[in-house]
Amino acid sequence: MSDAIPATFRALRVHAEGGNHRVALETIGIDDLSPGNVVVRVAYSGINYKDALAVTGKGKILRGSPRVPGIDLAGHVVSSQDARYQPGDAVLVTGCNIGEQMDGGYSEYARLPADALVRLPAGLTFEEAMAIGTAGFTAALALQRMLDNHQTTTMGTILVTGATGGVGGIALSIFKAHGFKMAALTGKPEAAEYLHSIGADEVIDRESVIMGSKPLEGALWGGAVDNLGGDTLAWLTRTVKPWGNIASIGLAQAHTLSTTVMPFLLRGVSILGIHSVECPRAWRLELWKHLSTDWKPEGLLSKIATRTVILEDLTTVCEEYITGSVTGRTLVQHRQP
Ligand SMILES: NC(=O)c1ccc[n+]([C@@H]2O[C@H](COP(=O)([O-])OP(=O)(O)OC[C@H]3O[C@@H](n4cnc5c(N)ncnc54)[C@H](OP(=O)(O)O)[C@@H]3O)[C@@H](O)[C@H]2O)c1
Repeated sequence: MSDAIPATFRALRVHAEGGNHRVALETIGIDDLSPGNVVVRVAYSGINYKDALAVTGKGKILRGSPRVPGIDLAGHVVSSQDARYQPGDAVLVTGCNIGEQMDGGYSEYARLPADALVRLPAGLTFEEAMAIGTAGFTAALALQRMLDNHQTTTMGTILVTGATGGVGGIALSIFKAHGFKMAALTGKPEAAEYLHSIGADEVIDRESVIMGSKPLEGALWGGAVDNLGGDTLAWLTRTVKPWGNIASIGLAQAHTLSTTVMPFLLRGVSILGIHSVECPRAWRLELWKHLSTDWKPEGLLSKIATRTVILEDLTTVCEEYITGSVTGRTLVQHRQP
């Protein structure tokens, strides 16, 4: 491991000037990156839906141009102007506006504010930390918020939507490990074997669901983890049992929500907002402690994150995320110059 920052290194950068979207693997220097007081040699990153939107230009995720996408990274500190970190320290970052307002993880070196860093917990390798990434951290935040709001295993099955995705897979795994009965709603019924292997007791084909339109439909679910938004989230509000919680995480289907107040007034249903990017630091540290010990997802590298790509592959692989055709998590391994 070299402690020196090389004069140049490779980074994937998105240029978005004048409404044109251009992405290229470029050779840059450390001062081309957004400001920060710690430099990290990136070992691994991962791919989240948001990264796919940024790389493909299908969503307005990046602020500033050019910008390095990648909302997750893990690696060793190579230089630090912050007393809390020394060269050689193993760290990870998820969210905290990297790969959005600041340059992110799709670069061999990253320059970051120290406040974004989390020490790599003893129970995790870089690979495992990035297999979890924002997706797993968000699933853990959803679990914590639902437990805090009195979700119990006796209230009934938890439905996970977008189940073959990164958040969905880790949610199935960690909720199951907490004793919840789990159902997986998916657009890929052919992935049933995978979904059962990571925690689903039941797999439901998205196409088979008759959502109805009454303010309250028959109560089916003890609670839900929703990655889709739109009509699916609206249906969940109508079908969650009394006092159940819906963790609202994603918008893979739509950013809209059309419902009535009836589920809240007549069933005590709660929608819990899940915002992983700027999660309070104390919660962040606590959740990473869990994710490296008692909440560490079973089958993380053997079942959920079985695919590893390199920087050169990112533009192609991110297109697959936009079409919703990917199953599980994808690691991004960084080659060093
Ligand atoms: N709130 C937060 O802090 C936070 C953090 C992380 C992620 N998110 C959001 O959560 C969602 C999931 O993220 P992820 O990283 O798990 O994404 P992902 O790995 O790309 O998975 C998304 C899954 O959603 C389903 N899907 C995709 N496109 C769809 C469509 N048009 N209609 C219906 N279902 C579709 C697919 O699952 P099936 O084929 O199995 O249905 C897909 O595998 C995204 O919207 C992401 O932006 C939010």
